[in-house]
Amino acid sequence: EKGGFDHFMLKEIFEQPRSIYDCMRGRIYPNEGKVQLGGVKEYVEKLKNVDRIIIVACGTSWHAGLVGEYLIEEYARIPVEVEYASEFRYRNPIISEKDIVIAISQSGETADTMAAIELAKEKGATIFGICNVVGSSIPRISHAGIYTHAGPEIGVASTKAFTAQVTALTLFAFYVAQQRGKITESQLITYLTELETIPSLVETALKSNELIKKIAEHFIDSRNCLFLGRGSGFPVALEGALKLKEISYIHAEGYPAAEMKHGPIALIDEEMPVIFIATKNSSYEKVISNIQEVKARKGVVIAIVTEGDITVKNMVDYSIEIPDTNEAFLPLIATIPLQLLSYHIAVMRGCNVDQPRNLAKSVTVE
Ligand code: M6R
Repeated sequence: EKGGFDHFMLKEIFEQPRSIYDCMRGRIYPNEGKVQLGGVKEYVEKLKNVDRIIIVACGTSWHAGLVGEYLIEEYARIPVEVEYASEFRYRNPIISEKDIVIAISQSGETADTMAAIELAKEKGATIFGICNVVGSSIPRISHAGIYTHAGPEIGVASTKAFTAQVTALTLFAFYVAQQRGKITESQLITYLTELETIPSLVETALKSNELIKKIAEHFIDSRNCLFLGRGSGFPVALEGALKLKEISYIHAEGYPAAEMKHGPIALIDEEMPVIFIATKNSSYEKVISNIQEVKARKGVVIAIVTEGDITVKNMVDYSIEIPDTNEAFLPLIATIPLQLLSYHIAVMRGCNVDQPRNLAKSVTVE
């Protein structure tokens, strides 16, 4: 049932070209410049007029929410707040019938996320669920939603569910942008045509698996690790760090690269691996200076770079190339090498990657 792979996690990482495709299927029409989301169609008037969106989630799903914030604000121009469900529910949040609250959850059963939307529903908000498990509790409590269609995820560490959540949020951002007239048909044609190529770009990114395995060998004895990115590369860094800690038990932290100088830079020495999302996008030059700051303090740098980039390659200890894509879709590609890196480090450390200690696939207790 692992389809020839050693672990479910690896199988699920390799399923991503398919799961991302399944999430988009029947929802995008690149030639017409159109996105269709049957699940939220009934609420289109609400979406046209809403003043803010609140996203609630936990763990990896919360990271997807941060990518969603970036996409919805950038393209649909609606203010978004992303909250840990467990914090939101206990702090008497200001919510009214004017708000849309989106719960993101792979399992659809996470207790804190469920409680958060129950609270928001009582206060009159409209609730959307972005869930993977069909017929689970969160979609049932929600008014409307989008299924991610990633297929069953067995590994406790979320991989394909995350990229499917990000895909669903990407569709949502463009759908709302279109409805609110924030994007032209020709711009949408360009974006959607590119989005359609993402499964094959993910396929290309997966080809670095052997290289990543070799790089991983150098880090099996690391005790700490820093993941840095900017813009939508920041949630990717957070997700990379969470993956590494949950399956390899190496302490890892994700930070916005520019925050490094406000504290974490003190940690850097020759023992400290620092993983940068250093692809060619709007923050490229800024990330390069952050890399220089780490190298000046003898940190060991692994960089995720755009195919063909030799500038960063020459500055760092290890680099992993990913295919170039529009910045909007970067998280979908840049996440792949981080999943593989964590996987190989954890396997080489002898960890049970599919079933890490102390963790459950769905957290149904608060
Ligand atoms: O099923 P959910 O998406 O609601 O689960 C939320 C978190 O418990 C989950 O993402 C957790 O952080 C994973 N183990 C991450 O890999």
